[in-house]
Amino acid sequence: MIRVETVRAGYDEGPDILRGIDLAAAAGEIVTILGPNGCGKSTLLKCIAGFVRPRDGSVKLEGRDIGAIPVHAKIRHHHMGFVPQTDNVFSTLTVAENILLGARHLQSVERGVRFTRLMTQYPSLASKQDRKASALSGGERQILSLARALISHPKVLLLDEPSAGLSPLTTHEVFSAIAEIRDRTGMCIVMVEQNAFEALGVADRAYVLSLGRVALEGRASVLLADPEMRHLYLGGELTTVAGNDRSRATA
Ligand SMILES: Nc1ncnc2c1ncn2[C@@H]1O[C@H](COP(=O)(O)OP(=O)(O)OP(=O)(O)O)[C@@H](O)[C@H]1O
Ligand SMILES: [Mg+2]
Repeated sequence: MIRVETVRAGYDEGPDILRGIDLAAAAGEIVTILGPNGCGKSTLLKCIAGFVRPRDGSVKLEGRDIGAIPVHAKIRHHHMGFVPQTDNVFSTLTVAENILLGARHLQSVERGVRFTRLMTQYPSLASKQDRKASALSGGERQILSLARALISHPKVLLLDEPSAGLSPLTTHEVFSAIAEIRDRTGMCIVMVEQNAFEALGVADRAYVLSLGRVALEGRASVLLADPEMRHLYLGGELTTVAGNDRSRATA
């Protein structure tokens, strides 16, 4: 569904942040992107969404190069839903207004049908639909940002740290909601996460970035059992594995 091929990218005149990244994500799977702060996770997601243009390489959706299609056009054509790392809801708008922002391009009847369906799927939002988003808990805000992305029925859902700032219990609830979306819709979900072990518990496959390159990749279950992952995430040096046999963790 999504294929990132040898992408090099950075900001303005600055250095390359992504230094030759390959990534693939299929329909019906959750792919998680892991790695330390500043390694380029959000930049990679912004590249897939189209906020950052690759300097080299390509981003393809169903075989078609989408690097040059503007972000708003992708959303309008139901290609992609993007939930950014921060500021993903408008606090001064109500829950309903936030969700409907994702549906401005739809006919009003269709908008209403989809909104009603989302309210059935997410009763915690339904009971608060006329409240300001500022009155929601962190977990409810994440579900709200998911619902706003889902109302446009995207083929690909891009999530930047959906568990940021959440307690372990709420993280679990948000990840369950994401897994439910995959199982129900067969959507392709690409999710950046800091919470590596929780994310591997829900993802199908994972890529671990280090300094703008893929240091490890593989099936989530294989990576979860990989002592190298524990080493990396419990204080090890990611750079020591860059360049090692990357296929080792690939099942
Ligand atoms: N808009 C921007 N302009 C210039 N440099 C940027 C911009 N956004 C990010 N960077 C730089 O790109 C590098 C990678 O940032 P990125 O946000 O992709 O990292 P990340 O892996 O998502 O980190 P975190 O885990 O902290 O969210 C950092 O050095 C950062 O300073
Ligand atoms: Mg980030």
